[in-house]
Amino acid sequence: MKSGKKILLGITGSIAAYRALDIARLLVQDGHDVQIVATSRALKFFPRINGEVFTGHPVLSDLFESPGGVRHIGLADESDLLLVAPASADFIGRMAMGLADDLLTTLCLAIRSSVILAPAMEEMMYLHPAVQAHLKTLTDRGVREIPPDRGALASGKEGLGRLASPERIRDEVRELLRISQEWSGVRVLISAGPTRESIDPVRYIGNRSSGRMGYALVEAALSRGAKVTLVSGPVDIPTPPGADVFQVETAGEMESALEKQFPGHDLCIMAAAVADYRMEKPLNGKRKKDGKSWTLTLSENPDILAGLSRSKKEGQFLVGFAAETRGLDTNDLARKARRKGVDLLLANDVSEPGIGFGSESNDLTLVLPDGQSLHLGRDSKRRLADRILAEIRKRWTGFPSLPT
Ligand SMILES: Cc1cc2nc3c(=O)[nH]c(=O)nc-3n(C[C@H](O)[C@H](O)[C@H](O)COP(=O)(O)O)c2cc1C
Repeated sequence: MKSGKKILLGITGSIAAYRALDIARLLVQDGHDVQIVATSRALKFFPRINGEVFTGHPVLSDLFESPGGVRHIGLADESDLLLVAPASADFIGRMAMGLADDLLTTLCLAIRSSVILAPAMEEMMYLHPAVQAHLKTLTDRGVREIPPDRGALASGKEGLGRLASPERIRDEVRELLRISQEWSGVRVLISAGPTRESIDPVRYIGNRSSGRMGYALVEAALSRGAKVTLVSGPVDIPTPPGADVFQVETAGEMESALEKQFPGHDLCIMAAAVADYRMEKPLNGKRKKDGKSWTLTLSENPDILAGLSRSKKEGQFLVGFAAETRGLDTNDLARKARRKGVDLLLANDVSEPGIGFGSESNDLTLVLPDGQSLHLGRDSKRRLADRILAEIRKRWTGFPSLPT
């Protein structure tokens, strides 16, 4: 039976390349349309004809092969998933560095759907700090690794580095496709970044939020096939392709954008660090230095989260973030979740240097209004974003079941 899913199977120059044909067979058995994209070195390890017989498609390899055109973009746009198995040390390095010197690596830069890598190599190569660093770079970006097995290697030695079994790889593909099927079309609204409040035309009150946590959530939701709207404060991160983006500056602008968007969404995650205070009367002209001290009078901004929760409709799920500087008391946080009317609160202690605001990683604790809590731990923001969406899914009783 056809699943209607298009899977790109990348094969690279490893001795295990022949086992990719078993993977192709299992994926075809699951009803997927499988297109093999092999590196030129991979073709030294298996006969092209075998790949073509298993998948029913020509094995693609050359970026400039005819029929030409921008084939890599077409393939990337049409695919539901890219699986690279086996992934060589060389390929992992090129992908981590963003090189695009053949069809497969060029595809990796163009693809928006999920990417899975199954490395295969000798143990000392797999454990080499360079390979581990490249794998970390990739998994921090949201790529999934299926770690190799321990067993007999091509050199005759026993060790860690054997390509994971075709069945384990097939199961991982099934799981990822199940998740993206489930989230496909779910409307997700995410706020990210800081807000800025004018003091005068050149100065503002801001905060240290980089927007990375919210942008990581946008990427994680998009890779699951969700329809994502991002309301972003001023950040230095490129806009994620595929999301509808509204750029705002002040807390007031963020509030109006979110209030307007919220009714058309199923899930709202407020990851933005919204200013609690604004200038009571921003100055029209720049204040010059006059040798005296300057006292600013601030007034409180509205609580956007509490406002959204008041307009929340049945089935909608609302998530807030809480940045604390005096440790995390889960009872206090649960009270805060109840007071704000959110379904789930994600708290971090931003007083610790190098974690949270402005950094690539975070340390989050999930708190529910009933007092239950779960320490998600310290990890890259992108990996935490995947964990957060999985935890939301478990707790969201009104999760929309959309026709597939
Ligand atoms: C017999 C043989 C077996 C190899 N097996 C592996 C392997 O299992 N894993 C790996 O990372 N590299 C392996 N290599 C080295 C790669 O083929 C080499 O790094 C190549 O540049 C990979 O190219 P690619 O990434 O474009 O496919 C092997 C080389 C030879 C000659």
